Amino acid sequence: MASLMKLRNVNKIVGVLRNHNASMASAAVMPNRNPDIQHKQVFINNEWRDAVSGKTFPTVNPATGEVICHVAEGDKVDVDIAVKAAQDAFKLGSPWRRMDAGERGYLMNRVADLIERDRKYLAELETLDNGKPFQVAYNVDLELVLRCYRYYAGWADKNHGKTIPIWGDFFCYTRHEPVGVCGQIIPWNFPLLMQAWKLAPALSLGNTVVMKLAEQTPLSGLHIASLFKEAGLPEGVLNIIPGYGPTAGAAISRHPEVDKVAFTGSTEKYITTPSHSLPCPKVGQMVAADAAQSNLKRVSLELGGKSPNIIFSDADLDMAVDQAHFGLFFNMGQCCTAGSRCYVEEGIYDAFVEKSMEKAKNRTIGDGFDPNNDQGPQVDEDQMNKILAMIKLGKDQGARLITGGGRYGDKGYFVQPTVFSDVADNMTIANEEIFGPVMQIMKFKTVDEVIERANINKYGLAAAVVTNDISRALNVANSVRAGTVWVNCYDVFDSCSPFGGFKMSGNGRELGEYGLEAYTEVKSVIIKVPTKNS
Ligand code: NAI
Ligand code: MG
Repeated sequence: MASLMKLRNVNKIVGVLRNHNASMASAAVMPNRNPDIQHKQVFINNEWRDAVSGKTFPTVNPATGEVICHVAEGDKVDVDIAVKAAQDAFKLGSPWRRMDAGERGYLMNRVADLIERDRKYLAELETLDNGKPFQVAYNVDLELVLRCYRYYAGWADKNHGKTIPIWGDFFCYTRHEPVGVCGQIIPWNFPLLMQAWKLAPALSLGNTVVMKLAEQTPLSGLHIASLFKEAGLPEGVLNIIPGYGPTAGAAISRHPEVDKVAFTGSTEKYITTPSHSLPCPKVGQMVAADAAQSNLKRVSLELGGKSPNIIFSDADLDMAVDQAHFGLFFNMGQCCTAGSRCYVEEGIYDAFVEKSMEKAKNRTIGDGFDPNNDQGPQVDEDQMNKILAMIKLGKDQGARLITGGGRYGDKGYFVQPTVFSDVADNMTIANEEIFGPVMQIMKFKTVDEVIERANINKYGLAAAVVTNDISRALNVANSVRAGTVWVNCYDVFDSCSPFGGFKMSGNGRELGEYGLEAYTEVKSVIIKVPTKNS
């Protein structure tokens, strides 16, 4: 019974993600908590190899802190080999360049079919390596992954140019061509989904790729490489390097023969101990600077967020509390869109705080393979320590801690669901990304005031507004500087709808038709015609 209840919770989450529209297959899928790890090496030219250095690094199960296995640690030398392979695969006349656009779409759909075949195994790898609850990995992450590959498969033969009526006796048309060798650097919070957001458009449009997986979660992305090979991808088109950021990652963004780099990760990074949190190199900015200095490669960045969730007193209180809870605690708070600034109108503030506290207290925490748990561990010890340091700052700076506030248990990297009320705009926890299960609640009085406060932050990734007044909802939606605004919902993602940030949350858009731009060069061809055709 308990597990059925939990499954309903998952379906509710999926329901939110699916805009309350679809019915989800609700049969419980039972995971194997010890999946066989098939791929631990670097993937270049459709071959598995050790890193040239021979080095490996451990990947850890964050629920236990135990090493799952050791994975090849690629660095600059491996990136150089991968870039050469990707360049060769992109040469004119190569099988990839000669493949019809529609055939690329079919290939991508074959990959999606193989992901569907291995869905359970992929979700098991995700839970083992990242810690997220298996039912969420299986029902949410994998569902969105499949749709993303299939969505961009459809674009393969539809990303076409225009004919343009220029002045004079000329015929002008544009061609939409692939950019070339794309470097892609992804994070660990949604390993398979972040990989899909990058691979699906890049490969559907005929680019070649060198991808670096996050060092915390290399396992699922390597299995995807094997599925591309199985689906018939020509060699060298996709190359995957597990490894660390300052070595393998920086080698990609600095490489003079890489034509484009796409990065998802931190705007600002913190060195943390349980009592300190010090800003250190800003990775998103470093990637952009490296790209500029090496060869002005194209750059798209999806970075941090501190998203306002604005709740008016006319809203259904329970719905607003549920939504704010989901918008913050989903994926252990490890979402770039996390609704981590909850602005609540004064009339319902006290009741909202009380109910949010109750909801947070009721979360069940533990191993993601156990279907009774809502919340798994944070991805690693660094992230746990960063979150604990942020909580300490919140307390030191005078926010009111109403529940949680510490580590959960002494094994693995779990953090108690935490809620702060009476948060002031100048506190660190109101301004910096926490990336953990820590909710900040603030009070507001007027619409103009809350819009101004929502826009103070350096980030502009997402925002939400909860109200029954359509004029007010549109006013807020038009006024907040954010790449996505949700009205009476939160974290609704769809491959068709663009996603990306204003301000320091990044540049460029992923997903949807807008997402094609990052992987397309536009060529203008102008032909002299002997007589003027009007
Ligand atoms: P990170 O920015 O270091 O990691 C993201 C990716 O960038 C990883 O693959 C990493 O190896 C790579 N990377 C690191 N340094 C690099 C460099 N110099 N050149 C090229 N690539 C590099 O983020 P980290 O340390 O995993 O998490 C720190 C904070 O970043 C989190 O607490 C959170 O606030 C934020 N974050 C945001 C994400 C998002 O979805 N926007 C995802 C992950 C983290
Ligand atoms: Mg891991």
